[in-house]
Amino acid sequence: MPTSAAYRILDTDVNAAHERDRAREIGPDALIALIEASGLRGRGGAGFPLARKLVAARTAAAGGSAYVVANAYDADPASPLARTILLKKPELVIEGLAIAASAVGATSGYLYIRPDSESAKKAAERALDAARPGLGDLQVEIAQGPGGFMGGEESALLAVLESRRAMARQRPPYPATQGLLMRPTLVSSAETLAALPLIVRDGADAFRRVGTEASPGTKLVSVTGAVASPGVYEVAFGATLGEIVERAGGATGKAMKGLHVGGPTGGILNATRTGVALDYETLKAAGTHLGSAQIRVIGTDVCIVNEAAKLFDYLAKETCGICVPCRVGTKRVEGILEGIYSDLGRADDLPWLDQLADHLREFSLCGFGITSASILKTTMSEFAEDYRSHIDGHTCPTGTCQPARSRRYETMAQP
Ligand SMILES: Cc1cc2nc3c(=O)[nH]c(=O)nc-3n(C[C@H](O)[C@H](O)[C@H](O)COP(=O)(O)O)c2cc1C
Ligand code: SF4
Repeated sequence: MPTSAAYRILDTDVNAAHERDRAREIGPDALIALIEASGLRGRGGAGFPLARKLVAARTAAAGGSAYVVANAYDADPASPLARTILLKKPELVIEGLAIAASAVGATSGYLYIRPDSESAKKAAERALDAARPGLGDLQVEIAQGPGGFMGGEESALLAVLESRRAMARQRPPYPATQGLLMRPTLVSSAETLAALPLIVRDGADAFRRVGTEASPGTKLVSVTGAVASPGVYEVAFGATLGEIVERAGGATGKAMKGLHVGGPTGGILNATRTGVALDYETLKAAGTHLGSAQIRVIGTDVCIVNEAAKLFDYLAKETCGICVPCRVGTKRVEGILEGIYSDLGRADDLPWLDQLADHLREFSLCGFGITSASILKTTMSEFAEDYRSHIDGHTCPTGTCQPARSRRYETMAQP
């Protein structure tokens, strides 16, 4: 795991500058056809096919100005995947960006990073200085985002590049047709772009030899929590969650209670779900998503209601606030969960939470609010006994919760 050495991003020996020149020789149409044949999907979370975004941006640009952005922001600080690539193989990201720019016909590009990652910035600067003589008329700048979870969301990122606050905007139009300064803009994860020099060198079939039919290639994941060797690992798509945890040395301490998959908005699966495969569709069917590709092992000494409350506390602080379902919903959910773990909950809190989850999922403007619903859906279905223990028995199932309040907050909408 991965099954072939050909597509390991982190220890490849590919000459990325050479592959950028070859990509330019091939020409945009054949290059996009190659990327389409490879089945490369976006590594930033949603898994959208890169070739389709390239076609959309190229068509919308119609020979006029266009931009490419490598999203190396690592919105989830516990999943420093772009930083890992930038520290080990920064040239893959820079030349991957240049390859994507040649496919779109863009002459301006940005490498967008966190404000607190000095070492990654320095590595990127060195790689960019080395690459510049070969980049021709492509201008690439390193831009630093604001910090905070929403800084990595693509429409908020574009707002930041336009010197505005990191707030999302309605789509469509998607950035590929109307992005930076209203011009076609390809926003791709640094990890997605880093695969391009390898695909140009070895071809589509070789890329497809690793991973699954629908999700070819490898994926960086960050394994955190109660494991022996937390860290960033490169695994083949299709590896099971259990195999990935073993790769990180296995669960430590007491037995594993759950797996929190996908970062701050990810669902929590119970410990029996180690056979779930890491790919976009399987994770969705399991009730979560790839998201930031963080896999956090939760020990048996953790109360899941408290975990869910902590996650919503974080999300209520990080929401960009532009849409009501998320701005109000995350805060409301946090309050109800706080009431439950303070042993002030009632049975009718659960359908209320379920309804709030549906509203977050259906009416939020961006992936932040939409995906946060999976925290509620999974914890209520997979850890129902933790909720019951607090609501029916007025006891924390692990004896760890400290009540946060001494009375319920009633609202008019809730009987
Ligand atoms: C709250 C939030 C944070 C995100 N943070 C990142 C990030 O740090 N890096 C990233 O590549 N994508 C991030 N994304 C996904 C981007 O919006 C976008 O879909 C992605 O950069 C597109 O690249 P891809 O097609 O290569 O996946 C985030 C999305 C959301 C909703
Ligand atoms: S879902 Fe949340 S983060 Fe996304 S636009 Fe709405 S308020 Fe902002």
